[in-house]
Amino acid sequence: MTRRLTLVGLGPGDPELVTAQAVRALNEADYFLVADKTGQHPGTADLIAMREAICARHVTGAWRLVHVPDPERDRAGPADYTGAVRDWHEARAEAFEQALLDNPGDAAVLVWGDPALYDSAIRVADRIAERARVDITVDVVPGLSSIQLLAAHHRLVLNTIGGPITITTGRRLLHDAATHDNLVVLLDGALTCRQLPELSAWRIWWGANLGSSDEQLVAGNLDEVADRIWSRRTAAKQSRGWVMDTYLLRRAGSLERRS
Ligand SMILES: C[S@@+](CC[C@H](N)C(=O)[O-])C[C@H]1O[C@@H](n2cnc3c(N)ncnc32)[C@H](O)[C@@H]1O
Repeated sequence: MTRRLTLVGLGPGDPELVTAQAVRALNEADYFLVADKTGQHPGTADLIAMREAICARHVTGAWRLVHVPDPERDRAGPADYTGAVRDWHEARAEAFEQALLDNPGDAAVLVWGDPALYDSAIRVADRIAERARVDITVDVVPGLSSIQLLAAHHRLVLNTIGGPITITTGRRLLHDAATHDNLVVLLDGALTCRQLPELSAWRIWWGANLGSSDEQLVAGNLDEVADRIWSRRTAAKQSRGWVMDTYLLRRAGSLERRS
């Protein structure tokens, strides 16, 4: 019999930010699957606990969480980055497939934020369907992304007037900032914006652990606030064991130039 695998976007951590559709999907599933990175990063246990708090708040009746140990990923900056990520997705697909084989019924995968944004869940689910060892249909329920929370908590419009936004990663920032003047940056453990050639040319709106009890927000001219952001980031990581941050970088004057 065909089983349902629903990839449920839970938003960036705050139980108040879970959509009604996500709540319905959680309540319809027989159990939940979550990628467990605690083997490599013990601090991430808190991220699982935050998902559990969301389930406890929104699921009526008993629920069951199945931890899927996350395969080791080559983080040493492989020459073939895309190939390394593809291998990791394949290993993740095998791990989730095994969890589905071991646990009958309909499953929901608890996805952080929105599944469409820098998350492997959709690619992994497609791969499981292609491998055809488990008979599944895959559905996606969107969630609020960290970017939306960043914008709301800074009371920001992400785009300049009539202008584009580039969404990128810390890994690509120095390259992308050479040709774009309004960028949202994710996945940047090194706060790479500090290496831009001309810090005074940029404004930044930064947020860490958005939606959690120790959310951090800083905004200002990059040359003036970069050090403060780095020390807040370091302190957040020390106190909680993990930190996730997102920021908007805008070249000074670009809003006016477009208006
Ligand atoms: C693997 S991506 C997942 C993004 C997620 N799917 C989303 O919609 O936000 C992880 C990155 O998202 C950002 N992020 C996720 N949750 C966050 C939060 N609560 N506060 C700030 N940034 C967050 C950080 O840039 C982090 O490195």
